[in-house]
Amino acid sequence: GFSALSYADLGEDHTMLRDTCRMFADKELAPNAGHWDKEHLYPGDAVKAMGEMGLMGIIVPEEYGGSGMDYLAYSIALEEISRGCASAGVIMSVNNSLYSAPIDKYGTPAQKEEHLTPFASGEKLGCFGLSEPGNGSDAGAASTTARKTDKSYILNGTKMWITNAHEADKAIIFATTDKSKAHKGISAFIVDMEHIQLGKKEDKLGIRASSTAQLILENVEVPHSALLGKEGEGFKIAMTTLDGGRIGIASQALGIAQASFDCAIAYAHSRYSFGQPLAKNPIIQTKLSKMAMELDAARLLTWRAAAQKDAGRNFTKEAAMAKLKASEVATENAHQAIQILGGMGYVTDMPAERHYRDARITEIYEGTSEIQHLVIAGALNKEFAA
Ligand code: CAA
Ligand code: FAD
Repeated sequence: GFSALSYADLGEDHTMLRDTCRMFADKELAPNAGHWDKEHLYPGDAVKAMGEMGLMGIIVPEEYGGSGMDYLAYSIALEEISRGCASAGVIMSVNNSLYSAPIDKYGTPAQKEEHLTPFASGEKLGCFGLSEPGNGSDAGAASTTARKTDKSYILNGTKMWITNAHEADKAIIFATTDKSKAHKGISAFIVDMEHIQLGKKEDKLGIRASSTAQLILENVEVPHSALLGKEGEGFKIAMTTLDGGRIGIASQALGIAQASFDCAIAYAHSRYSFGQPLAKNPIIQTKLSKMAMELDAARLLTWRAAAQKDAGRNFTKEAAMAKLKASEVATENAHQAIQILGGMGYVTDMPAERHYRDARITEIYEGTSEIQHLVIAGALNKEFAA
């Protein structure tokens, strides 16, 4: 069992997983991440290797092609991968907690066989289509429609900002079967990407090695068996999925925050200014100690959220806290890493500027920081009233 006391509490499995992922990230990801970022290159070979390592379905049971590990393992692995390349981190995160997790939780055995096994093993890639051009934070306002006929559903609408869009084989699409019921009319569907048109690849500030694009659905006909869960259950599926997803993004943010710290402390020891290493300067020391402390705080919140989920307890508030804190720490640590590197922080010879650009998205996707405050405050009010 895990207790949120110290790193030493990680058992043998989690420690081994961390070390394996760290070695892979140091060798295969970190040396290439700058190039992939600059050229907008999808790291296909690395993702394939991650699949072979069991990382693309780490939380999926072994009988459906996954590694059958817990969310703490997921968090640890995703942090290490993101430390090497935050784009590889989000690719892994979406396939695990946004695509595979809801199929594992709500899918029938037949759906799992077809739509989960090849994805959890890393052979295929999934994506998650919730946001639309007209509504991101207000996810319950989905305007994509699904019209039921005798033998099928017909989907129409546009999804926006979809991670993995250009490489994915299947998507989970949220669409309303009954507009009059607002969020209670939303249903989830598993849709083949070959029926969906893609928008252009967005040209982004960071995580540039992962693709982001619109999904355009024009009279896309899917069989009744494409419905995930029950009709009208889609919003609940989206919300419970995002609870788990937020542990993933918190972990991605930890990786970026740690990489920023690593880069800053190494530089502070090798760079001489006024006759001594920067690391001897009290102002720089205060920056580094704050970075390390905030990183630990964020990691403990993230591991607590994971432990809470693994124990089968409600973890909505804990996941929101972890995601909010870790994303803010990633941004602040990346900011201070650039400061400690001075001019070298501002150029692409060093990774600090990439961490700064990558960090920013963690405060926006899977619910902005403002939305995490809403979720936390909602839970606090409920606790107070109880
Ligand atoms: N678990 C289970 N059910 C939940 C829930 C949760 N965490 N949160 C809400 N619900 C249920 C409520 O209980 C309620 O149920 P009833 O109708 O049965 O009473 C229902 O959902 C509606 O709840 P709210 O009135 O609280 O919903 P809302 O419309 O006010 O929205 C919100 C709440 C938290 C703002 C939500 O819309 C939200 O999370 N928005 C952010 C969207 C988001 O995170 N998008 C991410 C897209 S994916 C992505 O970005 C991918 C990537 O990064 C790579
Ligand atoms: P808006 O909802 O328009 O918000 C704009 C601003 O207003 C924000 O600061 C927000 O916090 C604030 N705001 C909104 N409502 C409130 C409120 N009630 N109280 C206080 N402030 C508020 N979505 C997917 O479905 N799948 C994906 O794979 C995916 N990947 C993404 C990848 C990238 C690179 C990006 C940029 C986005 C991705 N998203 C994805 C979408 C992402 O989840 C949304 O961008 C995010 O939820 C915010 O929605 P929005 O952009 O529409 O902003």
